[in-house]
Amino acid sequence: MKLEGRVAIVTGAAQGIGEGIAAELVREGAAVVVADVAEDGAAAVAEQLSRDGGRAISVACDVSEEEQVRSLVERAVSELGGLHVYVNNAAIGVYTPVAETTVEEFDRCLAVNLRGVFLGIKHAARAMQAAGGGGSIVNIASVHSVQNVGGTAPYAASKGGVAALTRAAAIDLAPAGIRVNAICPGWVDTPLIRGIFESDPDPPAARGAVERRQLLGRLGRPEEIGRAAVFLAGDDSSYITGTLLFVDSGMTAQLETWSE
Ligand SMILES: NC(=O)c1ccc[n+]([C@@H]2O[C@H](COP(=O)([O-])OP(=O)(O)OC[C@H]3O[C@@H](n4cnc5c(N)ncnc54)[C@H](O)[C@@H]3O)[C@@H](O)[C@H]2O)c1
Repeated sequence: MKLEGRVAIVTGAAQGIGEGIAAELVREGAAVVVADVAEDGAAAVAEQLSRDGGRAISVACDVSEEEQVRSLVERAVSELGGLHVYVNNAAIGVYTPVAETTVEEFDRCLAVNLRGVFLGIKHAARAMQAAGGGGSIVNIASVHSVQNVGGTAPYAASKGGVAALTRAAAIDLAPAGIRVNAICPGWVDTPLIRGIFESDPDPPAARGAVERRQLLGRLGRPEEIGRAAVFLAGDDSSYITGTLLFVDSGMTAQLETWSE
């Protein structure tokens, strides 16, 4: 039990990677706030975690709205007794080529994916500073934080921003004993990714092509990102701050392949 006695918030935890992270944090003894704009989904995940013997509550929260994030942090402190870990996971995929992207599409993507992370860091840090016991903030960035493909301009910009914000926040918050790190996932099997496959004329072929390109021959599972989050949330990573941890099946390790 690496997180016994700790309280954690995970945003975007109604499904996918966020749900996997919440489950792994609970498995290590943390009390978890399952936060999501999808209220019913968040409630269902919290109920399941509680049925499995964990301590979890759900809170409806749009991470792009400062008042809602401030109140989310307050709920964790008042209902679960503190805040030690904050996982900024919620994001949306806006995949459009730069010249065809509207201002509205760009702004919405940045509002959720980057402003949401900023607000999470800001209000989590204030609560952690007030308690005086330090803490750990884990941002879910992406392989898109450092490398890109065409047709993803808003998403890529937001994830590059998350990487920079992770470093900047780590510097500002180190004196308070608050560590800030990011996880950069590669392809992980979630509703977001299944939506991308389903937009292809031949979804099974699209999925198979992606699987074959992975060094480890498959997509990642949400709980594998959850294990990395447990590491960064807890004392096993006590000397790590301001870093990007790639959980990507080696995607960012290799140059282009010269043969199939
Ligand atoms: N799945 C992948 O392959 C992959 C790869 C790299 C990075 N990521 C990142 O991992 C994170 C989770 O991705 P996923 O694949 O599980 O996505 P997903 O779409 O399956 O789940 C995202 C969750 O975030 C919630 N959400 C959306 N907007 C929100 C808002 N404004 N406020 C609060 N909650 C909101 C959604 O309701 C949903 O429950 C994201 O940051 C994503 O960019 C995913």
